[in-house]
Amino acid sequence: MKDKFISLIKTSKKISVITGAGISAESGVPTFRGENGLWRSYRPEDLATPEAFTRDPKLVWEWYNWRRELISNCTPNSAHLFISYLESLIPEFLLITQNVDGLHKRGGSRNIIEIHGSIWDIKCSKCLYLSENRDLPIIYPPLCPQCQNILRPGVVWFGESLDYRKLEESVNFIATSDLLIVIGTSGIVQPVASLPFQGKQINKKLKIIEINPTSTPITNISDLFIKEPSAKFLSDLKIFS
Ligand code: APR
Repeated sequence: MKDKFISLIKTSKKISVITGAGISAESGVPTFRGENGLWRSYRPEDLATPEAFTRDPKLVWEWYNWRRELISNCTPNSAHLFISYLESLIPEFLLITQNVDGLHKRGGSRNIIEIHGSIWDIKCSKCLYLSENRDLPIIYPPLCPQCQNILRPGVVWFGESLDYRKLEESVNFIATSDLLIVIGTSGIVQPVASLPFQGKQINKKLKIIEINPTSTPITNISDLFIKEPSAKFLSDLKIFS
């Protein structure tokens, strides 16, 4: 398993990586659909929507304050660190993460698309104001310094469109890669769930490695499926020594 993983990496000049909540699980960040993903009795799908924010912005901010506090106590794990190490070795490299926790950046990743935004950004619900904010907690109600309307988390919610430029860049990069590594995503939330399929459809030579303790729809098109927690598998993996 490790040999095939290393050999696929060594024969690749251009690598893309897609990550989801599972990569941060071993850092202590709950996944969305895992057992610890619930806050009070709410599912993320009930809180991470524009409708939920319109209905009860205070409740949504309470959830985000809880998550910001939790994430601020977590640190990048071996899988985050492995990805930034890989970036330093591979000539062409792009990380596309669905995670909003910022742990990849803290782990040293630079060429990164945070396709669902960042929990450390806040933006105006009406105008184009967007800013980084690390306050713990955010005092309710946070108001836009430009237009005085309520500020919201700088993340993409269910039912909202992703930035099409980021999506286009991701598709193009994946489709021209030698290797795509998919780590810790359930592969059911669109449009990111389709990226591996699109990549393979456009470029038949694209190899896919998936790392996840549970199989997903992406497992079916993977050339190598590593059925393990990612930080455990990637810790101390010396590829070029
Ligand atoms: N290592 C690798 N994978 C893991 C680990 C681990 N230690 N622990 C759990 N996983 C896997 C699970 O098996 C599951 O397939 O991580 C995946 C987590 O799935 P989700 O919780 O559904 O998270 P994700 O796929 O990132 O969700 C996508 O949905 O809620 C929205 O916007 C939110 O970005 C999120 C998106």
